[in-house]
Amino acid sequence: MNRSYKIGVIKGDGIGPEIVDEAIKVLDAVSVAQGFNLKYEELLLGGAAIDQTGVPLPEETIQGVKQCDAILFGAIGGPQWDNLERTLRPESGLLALRKEMGTFANLRPAMVYDELVNASSLKPSVIQGVDIMVVRELTGGLYFGQPRALEDDKAFNTMIYTREEVKRIAIVAFDIAMKRNKRLCSVDKSNVLEVSQFWREIVEEIAVDYPEVALSHMYVDNAAMQLIRDPKQFDVILTSNIFGDILSDAASMLSGSIGLLPSASTGKGVGLFEPIHGSAPDIAGQGIANPLATISSASMMLRYALNENEAADKIDEAIKKTLAEGYRTGDIGDYDATEIVTCSQMGDIVADYASR
Ligand code: IPM
Ligand code: MG
Repeated sequence: MNRSYKIGVIKGDGIGPEIVDEAIKVLDAVSVAQGFNLKYEELLLGGAAIDQTGVPLPEETIQGVKQCDAILFGAIGGPQWDNLERTLRPESGLLALRKEMGTFANLRPAMVYDELVNASSLKPSVIQGVDIMVVRELTGGLYFGQPRALEDDKAFNTMIYTREEVKRIAIVAFDIAMKRNKRLCSVDKSNVLEVSQFWREIVEEIAVDYPEVALSHMYVDNAAMQLIRDPKQFDVILTSNIFGDILSDAASMLSGSIGLLPSASTGKGVGLFEPIHGSAPDIAGQGIANPLATISSASMMLRYALNENEAADKIDEAIKKTLAEGYRTGDIGDYDATEIVTCSQMGDIVADYASR
């Protein structure tokens, strides 16, 4: 066995540990079947890190990620850490890690599984066949802009983008559009914001190098509406950090449950792969969480970070087969289910199909 990879595993808080365990179960099954080796190293982040070390992003984690080929991440956060000062909250640890790793490109696919076309709150005719890739800028914009402050009688954040930051994320989005249906919609608020006007100008400049890609622009408020009205008009959506955060949650509901969709954060070096949902503390520890988004993130990790495309295909097919057979966790349990399964049973079934 000569293909061997080291995976940094950040289980995190809430349902994080249970969903990541299922993804590892599937990874183990598929790696054995496909003849490569995976080693795991657990790293701390978020609430779990605060409890054990006092800070949300320990130095050991910063050093640890550098030794890995890819990072698989569950979710962070919970009510017990909500009253901490902002910089000491679990979320600050995640943001700092993204920045530290230079993962400026966050790819968030929103697709509708045919098997779950009845699970969405929208009509099947509106969502059947939806296949969108949201490319969200992840290490700049409003989340990171300076100055920022919380003062007695005012508070402010700064939405700032440099030319280089817009250029590099635009290139990622155009490259992805070239591999898909060659349509790219850049979403901004350039009727109001200078930073969006700047964004739009740079995207136009990059477009010159991609004559085959049909580029359009849309204001973010309209994009939110269009995602619900007629999502099939979109192929690739390119947008900034805060707009992408909001639009990707909206887009996720097209699939019927936020528990289904994965994401990949890539950039300069090691990539970070995580479900787009949060830590769901209200259902943690009950064994009812849907692990499919994390399993699907593990598939993206195999494809984008390790180039193990066959293994990734196996996982994607296994998820489809599992859904086609009618296995559902509670979040999607009302829709064409033959059996409601636990988080761990879902992992067993997908692992079994993926290893065949
Ligand atoms: C996400 C999350 C994070 C974000 C939070 C937890 C900081 O909502 O990954 O979409 O806003 O980026
Ligand atoms: Mg979000």
